[in-house]
Parts: sequence; structure tokens; C-alpha cells
Amino acid sequence: LNQLKPHSFRFSRRSLATPPSPIRKLAPLSLARKNDGITILPLNIGQPDIPAPKEFYVGMERALSEVRRLKFVPYEQSEGFRTLCTIWAMYLNQYIERKELNLSADNVIITMGASEAITFTLMVCCDPGDEVIVLDPTYANYAGFAATSAINLIPLPTSPENNFAFPSREVIKSSLSGKTKAILLCSPNNPTGRVSTLEELLVLYDLSVEQGLLLILDETYREIVFDNLKAFSSLDLLAKHTALKGEVFAPENEPLVIIDSVSKRYNLCGVRIGCIATRNKEIVRLLRSQVSARLAAPTLEQSAIAYMLHELMKDGSHENYINEVVYTFNRRRDTLIKSLNYELRDFLPEPIKPPNGAFYLSFELPVSGEAFAEYMLRTFTHNQKTVFVAPGAGFYFSSTLGEKMIRLAYVLNEDKLCEASQMLGLGLKEFSR
Ligand SMILES: Cc1ncc(COP(=O)(O)O)c(C=O)c1O
Repeated sequence: LNQLKPHSFRFSRRSLATPPSPIRKLAPLSLARKNDGITILPLNIGQPDIPAPKEFYVGMERALSEVRRLKFVPYEQSEGFRTLCTIWAMYLNQYIERKELNLSADNVIITMGASEAITFTLMVCCDPGDEVIVLDPTYANYAGFAATSAINLIPLPTSPENNFAFPSREVIKSSLSGKTKAILLCSPNNPTGRVSTLEELLVLYDLSVEQGLLLILDETYREIVFDNLKAFSSLDLLAKHTALKGEVFAPENEPLVIIDSVSKRYNLCGVRIGCIATRNKEIVRLLRSQVSARLAAPTLEQSAIAYMLHELMKDGSHENYINEVVYTFNRRRDTLIKSLNYELRDFLPEPIKPPNGAFYLSFELPVSGEAFAEYMLRTFTHNQKTVFVAPGAGFYFSSTLGEKMIRLAYVLNEDKLCEASQMLGLGLKEFSR
């Protein structure tokens, strides 16, 4: 490309249409500020800081010894290390009530995080120009995944006034066109933290069956739920739908595809391991060809995760670990909301309400979320510190919605969250002057 004249090359429409991640877009400003000696409190990115399970490190050491012995690092199987597929299926099966619907290793494909899992799933179900329904706001990077495959996302607005509840079946149905191929959503939701209700999910499931669509459910935050909610997987929707409708339904044709990841629940974002799980045999067959073209996911990391999950599932350690994670995020959520409701009291139309899951808060300010986020990074300091927040607009696909929203990820300890709230209050006062 260096030899081409700069203006003569026409880059692909899809790459030109791929937006930068709104979560990382302001990172250069943050870096510049850091270089000026300012400490940044990063509430912009969902990178949790809780210790990962100790079993992961033991697994990694074992994997390392094995490749030391071999003296080279081999590729893994394209669809994933078989032992890991088996263990991941066993882990998911705890969410399935009707045991005859349990998954096996053949229903699981290991990917490089949920990101790759979603990209492959979209590529398997859509041609360029096809449409996928999403609920607005939703995980911002879905825009990037869709754009690289020239897929159009059709956003259906949800609103904070209504606690981001799903639109009615009629509204969802009226948004379908001859090009609609799938519905894609995450629950617990990023950026709102909302947990979808069983009734809402059943409507989507039923609609997907009726209309011949795929239902892609991103369960990256599955277990991070509060207020006595029980962690839930949509893998159980098939049985619930069957019970409700009295239909005999062939599991191997079902519309559901689950996206999973170790990034958030186990505090292992950089490990880059996730999976696709589905009973639909045709999807698995097609995915196997897709993943074979990228050869394999990382060998050592898969081996370490297999060991970790195996050990955690032995004697209740999994539950203990997750309980600790949930407890920590629950406390942080409560502390952050209390502190924000106090520090931002002059700017919030009404107090922020606690969402039921994940580790995010999205709320509206009386000013532009993006301009405020930039102001905090470019100009604001308090005791040589400032706060990095994510502008909410990037999580909205309908252009004007979310302009005044910001999203905070409560991935710092409670003292830092209080300090950040105080700075946000001071920053808003200065910015609104
Ligand atoms: C809803 C959702 N899905 C997927 C991802 C990406 O996960 P991974 O790190 O497994 O690629 C994220 C990351 O923030 C997310 O919030």
C-alpha cells in the first residue's frame, strides 16, 4: 500500500463504515493526560480488577510445563480443546432443567472471547445487506462486528424511564423485514446493567421460531446478578417454550445460539477465551468450517481454562468464587449509586436506580455525554486526578438517543468510586458554568 498514491486507493465500504469502539475512542486523550502526570480513574472500560481464580494460574503453569516438555507450542483443534468443550458443556448444563436437553462437547465451539464468537455467529447467519435486530442501547462493539460483515443492525429503542424494558411483540414484529436474519442481545445488559425477564426472552424465542430467525444471546455477564435474582441461561428457553406451547420441538433445529466468555465473570479479560454453544447442528457444522480457517484459539489459555473450570466445579468452589465476585460488585454498585445521587444531586432529574446485573450504570446528564467525557479528560483535575467515563451515545444505534447519557463501569474499589463521584460532581459544576 505504501507504493499506492494516497488518494487513489478505494478502501472497502465495510471498513470505512466500521466505527472505532466508543469505549476506547477517547483513550489517546487519557494517555496524553497521564503523560502530564495526572492520575486517571478509569470507569470507561469494563475491565474488572477482582483477583482471578487461583486455579487459572495453576492451569497456566501446567500448560506451560507441558509445552516446555514438548519444546514447541502446537495448534489446538479448530473447534477447541476437546476437554474444554466437554467441561464448558458440563458447566452450562447446570442451567438446564430438562436433562435430556443437556449439551455435549459437540454443541460447543471455543473462540477468542465473546467478540470472536459473535463475529462468527453473525457471519454464519447473514449475507452482506442482511439485517439483525438489536435493542437500543446495547454493547457498542456489536456495531463493529456487524460493519465488518456488512450487516445492518436495526435498533429498537428502550428507555430509562421504562427501566429499558423490551418493546412489545407487535413492535418487534413490525421491525422485521425480508432481510432480517437474527435478533442479538446481551443480558445482563451492557451498558444498562438490566437483566431481561423470562417473559421477554420467551417472546423473542417464540418470535424467532415463528419467523425462522436466529436468537443470539450474549451471556457474557450471566452470573453477575443482584437483588436475589438467580443466574439464568437462555439454554433453558427451549424447555420453557415447549411447556408453554405444548409443541414437540426438535432441539437440533432450535433458533438459539449462546455466546459465552471467561472475560468478566472470572476476571480474565486478557485471556481471550469464549465460546458459542447451540443445539442447532447445522449452525455447528457451518461454524466448524468458519473456525477452521483461523486455525485455532490459543493452546495454553484453553488448557488453563479447562483446568480451572474442572477444579472449580469439583466441590462448590465455583459457587464460592462467583458469590464473592457478585458480593463485591453489589457493594460497589450500592456505594457508587449512593455517592453519585449525593454528588450529582443538582444535575440528575431523578435519583439513579440500581440495575440488577453486570457492573455498569448508564444515566442521563443535563449536558452532552461526549463533551463532558472529553472535558473531564482534557481540562478537569482535582488533586492531580480526573475520571475517564464512556459517552453513552456510542451504545445507541438510533442516532439521537443517548446523546446525554454516560456509562460508568464500577471496576474500582469503593473508595475510588466515591472519589470518582466527587470529581464527576465537581466536573459537572465547572463544565456547566
Ligand atoms: C456484552 C458484551 N459482549 C461481549 C463482550 C466482549 O467479551 P470478550 O472479552 O469475551 O471478547 C463484552 C465486553 O465488554 C460485552 O460487554
